[in-house]
Amino acid sequence: MRAIAVSEYGATPAPTHLPRPRPGPGEILVRLIAAGLNPLDWKVADGLLKDSVDAPFPLILGQDGAGVVEEVGEGVTRLRHGEQVYGSFFGVARGLGSYAEYTLAEDDGPVARMPDGMIYTEAAAVPTACMTALALVERAHVDEGQTVLVVGATGGVGQAVVQLAADTGATVIATAREGMAAQMRRLGAEATVDHSLGDLNGQVLAVHADGIDAVLDMVSDTAGTEEIAQLLRPGGIYASTTWAVNPDAMAARELRGLNFEGEPSAELLERVSDLIDASRLRVVIEREVPLEEAPAALAANRAGGARGKTVIRI
Ligand SMILES: NC(=O)c1ccc[n+]([C@@H]2O[C@H](COP(=O)([O-])OP(=O)(O)OC[C@H]3O[C@@H](n4cnc5c(N)ncnc54)[C@H](OP(=O)(O)O)[C@@H]3O)[C@@H](O)[C@H]2O)c1
Repeated sequence: MRAIAVSEYGATPAPTHLPRPRPGPGEILVRLIAAGLNPLDWKVADGLLKDSVDAPFPLILGQDGAGVVEEVGEGVTRLRHGEQVYGSFFGVARGLGSYAEYTLAEDDGPVARMPDGMIYTEAAAVPTACMTALALVERAHVDEGQTVLVVGATGGVGQAVVQLAADTGATVIATAREGMAAQMRRLGAEATVDHSLGDLNGQVLAVHADGIDAVLDMVSDTAGTEEIAQLLRPGGIYASTTWAVNPDAMAARELRGLNFEGEPSAELLERVSDLIDASRLRVVIEREVPLEEAPAALAANRAGGARGKTVIRI
């Protein structure tokens, strides 16, 4: 099968041909039609998990995908042959991933039937960004009456966070460079601040002089979180998807610090499907590329400037 893989950690991702995997007991084989790109994909290629997962090489990249159940292993009861499915196919320990014509999933893993009427390229963009956003907004207890700053709002996770935080009734302030402010407002942000202009805190205080209740941050480093945390009122929460928060430093300022770790599951993905079906959440696709262009798309994501999700057509 065609796939995009690395020959070792730190190597440049490249197109290759590898054997089609075979499903064992409790597993399904999925023929992938589309994959969704996440920053984790190039971080894995760089060696992010080299001390925690003993991966074989070549290592196929990618986790998010959508396709058709091609074969089911012994004992599989939830998913059926021929069903359209989407989800997170995280297979680093076996060298498998979603940038390939076929991959495996556990019957009880974070894979679900695709929402009605959704096409494969759209479904592949959803899993990690939307599951992360939903769990993040819930774990930060974002609620009506609060004011929330979303940092990294224009990216794949951020655009879902803006919608779900606004959906709770909270007032959302989103970071956005010039040209993205209108998009952020369409997704539910009440105000935007441009991080490229500097003095982010001053821009927020100009619209909310009394400070804010929560920061949901997809990009900052630790120094950045400590600077932005000055906006929070006592009892406020700072949540980071990049594990940049120092919870002790936050506690010393009467704030709560949360380093968010995603726990993808079929149940969480089904809740995402319900929100999409109810038109309360939509995924924003920035570009689609063929499988062979996935290495260039990964390099582009690493360089920054994402305006939504990149989808890979397989
Ligand atoms: N912990 C978890 O479970 C978990 C789950 C999912 C994702 N993540 C992590 O969360 C991060 C975001 O993921 P993603 O998929 O949303 O990435 P993405 O699609 O690449 O988007 C990142 C966005 O942040 C913007 N940005 C960059 N620097 C900024 C700054 N200083 N202030 C405000 N915005 C800024 C970028 O636009 P500009 O470059 O134009 O500014 C871009 O729109 C990644 O590091 C990813 O690995 C963690």
